[in-house]
Amino acid sequence: MLIRRPADIAPSEITPRELYRARRDFMARSGRLALAGAAGLALPWTSADAAVLANVQPNRMALSDKPTRQKDVTSYNNYYEFGVDKDEPAKNAGTLKTRPWTVTIDGLCNKPRRYAIEDLLKFAPLEERLYRMRCVEGWSMVIPWVGFPLSALLRAVEPQGSAKFVEFTTLLDEKTMPGVKYPILDWPYTEGLRMDEALHPLTILAVGLYGEELLPQNGAPIRLVVPWKYGFKNAKSIVHIRLTEKMPGTAWNKAAANEYGFYSNVNPNVDHPRWSQETERRIGELTKRKTLLFNGYDEVAGLYAGMDLKKNF
Ligand code: MTE
Repeated sequence: MLIRRPADIAPSEITPRELYRARRDFMARSGRLALAGAAGLALPWTSADAAVLANVQPNRMALSDKPTRQKDVTSYNNYYEFGVDKDEPAKNAGTLKTRPWTVTIDGLCNKPRRYAIEDLLKFAPLEERLYRMRCVEGWSMVIPWVGFPLSALLRAVEPQGSAKFVEFTTLLDEKTMPGVKYPILDWPYTEGLRMDEALHPLTILAVGLYGEELLPQNGAPIRLVVPWKYGFKNAKSIVHIRLTEKMPGTAWNKAAANEYGFYSNVNPNVDHPRWSQETERRIGELTKRKTLLFNGYDEVAGLYAGMDLKKNF
């Protein structure tokens, strides 16, 4: 088991996180966020929103893994709406307009609702979660996300018994997203989870990382984070969450069903048809690592008991 309680972690391992936490506290105290807003910089969080961020609970799911440099997390991205090269989202996604922003939750639930992003920021206490992330392409990162459990939001809309899946639809805006004029995917980008996966405590909606609000290239203002699945399951810039009875179609599955399954659990024993998934390159490291089943999150294994993971890849 790779997840350790904070008490098990040597101080030397905690240092990078403590450093950025101290930096964040300093920024909050010095009112940098409010000042930047006044200067017209792209920081849509109001000072009231920023205060929510300053109260983020310490990481309760600590890893011994060293966080990937913030610079890499925010400059090496997949966000095809803004270009297919890793450096393009950071260059192009500045056009993403994250206010006003609403997320509609509907489908098979008793209390469908449209939430303003400001309400979602205060929806449940924000927590910091240091998660391993593994991209299907063979690279990985360790990211300190800020977010809240998706289950809190789903429970608020009261899912009906017939709701078996959750579909996520992300923003499609031809005016600001240069990538969507290319038919690489069936836009808008959509993803899906089975209800028990969506309700699992590891599954979060992230609104920030490294103690700061999400940048557009990372899926501002709100994105999914499911750490035991390949990166593409983590839909960015979500506008619609729908509870369904049938398994929803997903963008990558529609594009290449033989390569990208619905489940897409990290699994070193199931090769991608064009490459092995046995190892990964953690961004910032030279030697490759062995990829772990469920990305090392052994506690989710029970969700798939009795399932053939080679068929349900
Ligand atoms: N969400 C949208 N809307 N569009 C995308 O192209 N790419 C996915 C996922 N979410 C993608 C998306 C892929 S392939 C990965 S690996 C992760 O976002 C990358 O997230 P990161 O750039 O924050 O690391």
